[in-house]
Amino acid sequence: MADLVLKNVNKTFGSHAVIPSIDLDIKDGEFVVFVGPSGCGKSTLLRLIAGLEEISSGDILIDGQNVAHTPAADRGVAMVFQSYALYPHMTVRQNLSFGLENIKMPKAEIAARVDAAAKLLQIDQLLDRQPRQLSGGQRQRVAIGRAITRDPKIFLFDEPLSNLDAELRVHMRLEITRLHERLGNTMIYVTHDQIEAMTMADKIVVLRKGVVEQVGAPLELYNRPRNTFVAGFIGSPRMNLLDGTFSAGDGAFRFQADGLPPVAMDHAGGAVAKQSGKLGIRPEDFLIGDSGWPVEIAVAEQHGANSYLHGTLPNGEPILIHKPGQIAVTRGDILHVAPAPGKYHLFDQAELRIEA
Ligand SMILES: Nc1ncnc2c1ncn2[C@@H]1O[C@H](COP(=O)(O)OP(=O)(O)OP(=O)(O)O)[C@@H](O)[C@H]1O
Ligand SMILES: [Mg+2]
Repeated sequence: MADLVLKNVNKTFGSHAVIPSIDLDIKDGEFVVFVGPSGCGKSTLLRLIAGLEEISSGDILIDGQNVAHTPAADRGVAMVFQSYALYPHMTVRQNLSFGLENIKMPKAEIAARVDAAAKLLQIDQLLDRQPRQLSGGQRQRVAIGRAITRDPKIFLFDEPLSNLDAELRVHMRLEITRLHERLGNTMIYVTHDQIEAMTMADKIVVLRKGVVEQVGAPLELYNRPRNTFVAGFIGSPRMNLLDGTFSAGDGAFRFQADGLPPVAMDHAGGAVAKQSGKLGIRPEDFLIGDSGWPVEIAVAEQHGANSYLHGTLPNGEPILIHKPGQIAVTRGDILHVAPAPGKYHLFDQAELRIEA
C-alpha cells in the first residue's frame, strides 16, 4: 500500500513561490505522469516528495503518515534521474548495492536484491562493468535497478528517458510500463514526451507555474481539456486555437473569426449565448471539402504514413492540418476546411471550456 497525498504543499525559493499551493491525491499503484512547460516545478515537486528538498509549508502523506519532515532515506521513496547519477568509479554491482550497504543491510540480502533487479532489467551480464563501459540505455537500467533494490513504496522518475535515442526510448517506455505492471508500485513520472504521457499514465497532472491546471486520465484530458492551456499542452501537434465570436440562432450554431466567413456547426447544447472566445480544433479534426475556410498551404510535410499541412487563413492565423496518408498538396494550394461534426472545443473569454 502506498497512497500519496499532498496537502497545501508550498515551496518558496527566496521570494519566488515555485509551488504556491498544491493538493494532490495519488492512489496506491497508480502510474501518474507530471507534464508542464520547462520551469513549472515538476522536478521541484518530485524532490519535495522524495525529501531531497524541504517543503516551505504543507503536508506530504504516504499511507496516511505525514513524512513532510522525515529524512529522504526513511520515506520509502526512490528517485531515478535523467542524468542517471551513477558513481563512475564503481562497478554496476557496487552502484546497485552501495545504498543498501550504507543502511547496513546484511550482505546476503543485498546480493539477493541486486541479482533480482539485475535479472529483471537484463543487466545481469554487466554487473562487473563500470558505467563508462555501458551504453546510455544500459546506464539508465542501472539507475532504475538502483531504485528497485531499495524496494521503495513509491518510484519517482524525472525524465528518465530523455537522453536516449528515439528507438531506445520506445523500448524503455515499454519496459517501464511492464515494470509497473509487474511490481505494482505507485509511480510518478515526469516527461516532456507526449506519447509517454498519453500511453504510460493512468492519470496525467498538467502543471503551469506550480499550479495544477487539470488532473485526469489521458483521454479525458485530450477529449475535454478544461482550459486553453491544457488544450494547447496535451496533444501533438498542438490544437489550433482561433479567436472569434460564437452565436446560436435559426437552429444553427456559428463561429465567426475576424475576417473569415462564419462556419455553421452542430452544437448539442445549442445554448451558447453570443460571446467572444476561442474555438479549438485538433489538427486531425478538420474535414477537407468544397466549403469552409480557405487555407493557403505554406508547407506540406509528408511523413509517409501521415501528412502535416501548415497553412494560413485569410486573416493571417496559422492553421495545422493532420491527415493520415499522403495528401497531394503543395505550397500555394488552397484547401477548404471545416471542423468535423462535434470535433471542436469552445472556450470562453476566461479561456475556460464551455461544455457542449
Ligand atoms: N534551488 C533552487 N533555488 C532557486 N530556484 C530554484 C531552485 N530549484 C529550482 N528553482 C526554480 O524553480 C522553478 C521550477 O524548477 P523545476 O526544476 O522544478 O522545473 P521543471 O518543471 O522540472 O522544469 P524542466 O522541465 O526544465 O526540467 C524554476 O523557475 C527554477 O528556476
Ligand atoms: Mg525538471
